[in-house]
Amino acid sequence: MVMIGASILSANFGYLAEEVKKAEEAGVNFIHADIMDGHFVPNLSLGIGLTKYVKKMTDLPVDVHLMVENPDLFIPKLAEDADMISFHIESCKYPFRTINLIKEHGAKPIVALNPSTPITNIEYILGELYGVLIMTVEPGFSGQKFINPMLKKIDDLKNRILREGYDTKIFVDGGINTETAPAVAESGADALIAASAIYGKENVKEAVDELRRAATFKI
Ligand code: DX5
Ligand code: ZN
Repeated sequence: MVMIGASILSANFGYLAEEVKKAEEAGVNFIHADIMDGHFVPNLSLGIGLTKYVKKMTDLPVDVHLMVENPDLFIPKLAEDADMISFHIESCKYPFRTINLIKEHGAKPIVALNPSTPITNIEYILGELYGVLIMTVEPGFSGQKFINPMLKKIDDLKNRILREGYDTKIFVDGGINTETAPAVAESGADALIAASAIYGKENVKEAVDELRRAATFKI
């Protein structure tokens, strides 16, 4: 079954604890928290201080998505409050070192790829990872349109993982909604992450149910 992660970027930060609980009660599998530094991406979002509290708001696993220029700087400070840490290959000089740093701190390493970054860039680290996060929009903002050629990228990655016999999971982030979810799931995604398709809706439970239904829909 495809996992669903609620990205709190579109949540109402004034009521964050309630928003996180709503997603948990709606049956999502994990909470996705975006950290941006205004350099790697042209936006700011949650910082380490707030991420700490997200972990206390839920029993679900917390996936922290680092969209920052120097991920190694932040990992030791947030690992205790994150179950999974996603870092971008584009901002990482020494990925094996970063992966080990995440593991040493007890979290699961996930590498994130911007839409134009080819999967060949990560072929030698693939076996070391818990997951790969395929960005299906340019990172930085929620509510953007899904970039269609990413379906082929997900499919290529899935084939490579199967061919090599790895257990690496594919996470997909950006523009996920009931229209895009069927093809994304069909291409081989193990987890779909959504912000606006969950928190942009009146009823979070209904939104998650619809997304789950769409993800299991056979095209
Ligand atoms: C974008 C973030 C995503 C974002 C997704 O940079 O990494 O997690 O919140 O937003 P939607 O689901 O609205 O595209
Ligand atoms: Zn994200």
